[in-house]
Amino acid sequence: MTSQTSTTELLTALHDRDFEQIVLCRDPEVGLESVIAVHDTTLGPSLGGVRMRSYASHADAVADAMNLAQAMTYKAALAGVPLGGGKSVINIDPRVANRDEVLIAHAKYIASLNGRYIPGVDMGTSVRDLELIGRHVPVVSSQRGDPSYFTARGVVRSIEVALDACGRTVAGARVAVQGLGNVGLHVARMLARADAQVFGADIDADRVHRAVDEIGIIAVDLADVLQLDVDVVAPCAGGGVIDEKTVGALRAAALVGAANNMLSTNSLAAELRTRGIVHIPDFVANAGGLLAVEAEVRDDETGLTERVDAIADTAREVLNRSTAAGTDTVSVALTMAGEIVEANRKHRPYFRTE
Ligand SMILES: NC(=O)c1ccc[n+]([C@@H]2O[C@H](COP(=O)([O-])OP(=O)(O)OC[C@H]3O[C@@H](n4cnc5c(N)ncnc54)[C@H](O)[C@@H]3O)[C@@H](O)[C@H]2O)c1
Repeated sequence: MTSQTSTTELLTALHDRDFEQIVLCRDPEVGLESVIAVHDTTLGPSLGGVRMRSYASHADAVADAMNLAQAMTYKAALAGVPLGGGKSVINIDPRVANRDEVLIAHAKYIASLNGRYIPGVDMGTSVRDLELIGRHVPVVSSQRGDPSYFTARGVVRSIEVALDACGRTVAGARVAVQGLGNVGLHVARMLARADAQVFGADIDADRVHRAVDEIGIIAVDLADVLQLDVDVVAPCAGGGVIDEKTVGALRAAALVGAANNMLSTNSLAAELRTRGIVHIPDFVANAGGLLAVEAEVRDDETGLTERVDAIADTAREVLNRSTAAGTDTVSVALTMAGEIVEANRKHRPYFRTE
């Protein structure tokens, strides 16, 4: 969907992409304009972050929420967690003066879904914001802090699988990390500790300095990081960074990172395959954070590290099936996730009964 999305296009997208529910929310008194997208609750209540940012149009905000919610369905299915896919987006600058009022107004709309959507931290929101939201909704996640370590751990396991497919190991491998924030810094640190040579870039110069000082990464230009001649490129900043232009400039043997929806369109996965670039889809590699959040909601973190490490098994299966079927890895992973959801279809949709 684009910013020109008409009602008909929205309804078509809702139907064609099999969404259960889109809630468009407004509270003009506090300046709230938001959306809650519940893609699929077959496997359990939908879980996904509350994103707060200013979009060029509200249609863009709705499109982003829908794309992210759909990816959460697949991520949860492939990670084996009993959760569905959801996301919410508040279309406002996070620095707005009456931020708390806006968050509370959004929380009241979430509450009206009676637990079908469990909110968490996302771009533009913090653990403190989720505490505030948590006072108004039946279930909330992200109360115990930042899941980024587990996200990074799963990404590194997936990088190991990709390197293995290229006949390499982490020790001695050259990896370029775009974005040295919560996840990217952990990824860089784990790889450096395993004797990889790590290159990195971030729009925030302080984060680059920290990564150079603390980890010893090699800083590179923002414009070059995705195009380096390395073993792996690991996008850990925003989504859509691999598009029709940047895909052609990739020189790495593998593409594996944390950034949600890193391909501007799924069809680029076929081009990656044609060019022989090993690609582990983001919704496979970055599921560690979801596993951590789900453990938090269940209040049982037993075996969490092992379940995050098992992301490697899923990544390997995706690569193997891709090779066997001659199909790109995104199509393969979507098929695998779809099979899991379909096998449980009788439970759909999830309604809170307590
Ligand atoms: N935090 C998690 O547990 C988690 C889980 C799953 C997916 N993700 C995804 O991983 C990505 C990173 O998440 P995060 O929590 O580390 O976010 P973050 O905001 O902490 O870090 C992102 C970093 O990228 C930098 N950045 C932004 N645009 C850039 C650009 N064009 N070039 C280089 N650097 C740029 C920012 O300055 C920041 O340092 C996001 O796409 C997020 O959706 C995160």
